[in-house]
Amino acid sequence: MRLFIDTGNVAEVEEIAAWGVLSGATTNPSLLAKEDGDPGESIKRICDLVGGPTSAEVVSEDVQGMLDEGRALRELHKHIVVKVPFNKEGLEVTRALTDEGIPVNMTLVFSPNQALLAAAAGATYVSCFMGRLDDISIDSAAVLAEIAETLRAGGMTSEIIAASIRHPEHIVAAARIGCEIATTPAKVLRQMLNHPLTDEGAEKFRADWQSRPEFGEWLGELTRKRLAAAG
Ligand code: E4P
Repeated sequence: MRLFIDTGNVAEVEEIAAWGVLSGATTNPSLLAKEDGDPGESIKRICDLVGGPTSAEVVSEDVQGMLDEGRALRELHKHIVVKVPFNKEGLEVTRALTDEGIPVNMTLVFSPNQALLAAAAGATYVSCFMGRLDDISIDSAAVLAEIAETLRAGGMTSEIIAASIRHPEHIVAAARIGCEIATTPAKVLRQMLNHPLTDEGAEKFRADWQSRPEFGEWLGELTRKRLAAAG
């Protein structure tokens, strides 16, 4: 599974991209509306930082408006994927942009039927929202599994993005189901780092090493010599 970051905040992408774990990014109008500055510049910077597919969403509700916005967004950067909301107009737009060679991420998909339509319209990615299903007491992992099984059994090639991720267990569930991608807020990516045994183990290694100061000298010298030789 690949990890995308779900944000409109450039600083968050700078922070997490440095870990070397990101393959792409997704934005949406709500995420971008929280940020200052020119959204186009933010989106381009995010594209550069993640070096992979970065979704930017259309907001018009009519077909022509969505097509115009999608083509304009695509010209911002070579990594742009046009995000199109699921509805009948969105399907028409997805088919047209896909036929022009523009990759589409069809978003706001909540059921196998919607996923099948999105895939049939040629969407490169189908974004299935987990957190928002859980919010209305629907088992998001069960729905995601059904969507994955339906698309695979139906021979559809769209990649599934597990979206609306609220905690690390959503990501684990999506990976076990076989989703190709999870798009994840920075907060959840940071939560994934944590385990008490990791902290405890690191502390013990540190303390044991410090109990032998001569070993610390040896490693320091080894490192200094290498740096000196490298110039
Ligand atoms: C997906 O691409 C969306 O940007 C996002 O995951 C929505 O998440 P939310 O339900 O937390 O707003």
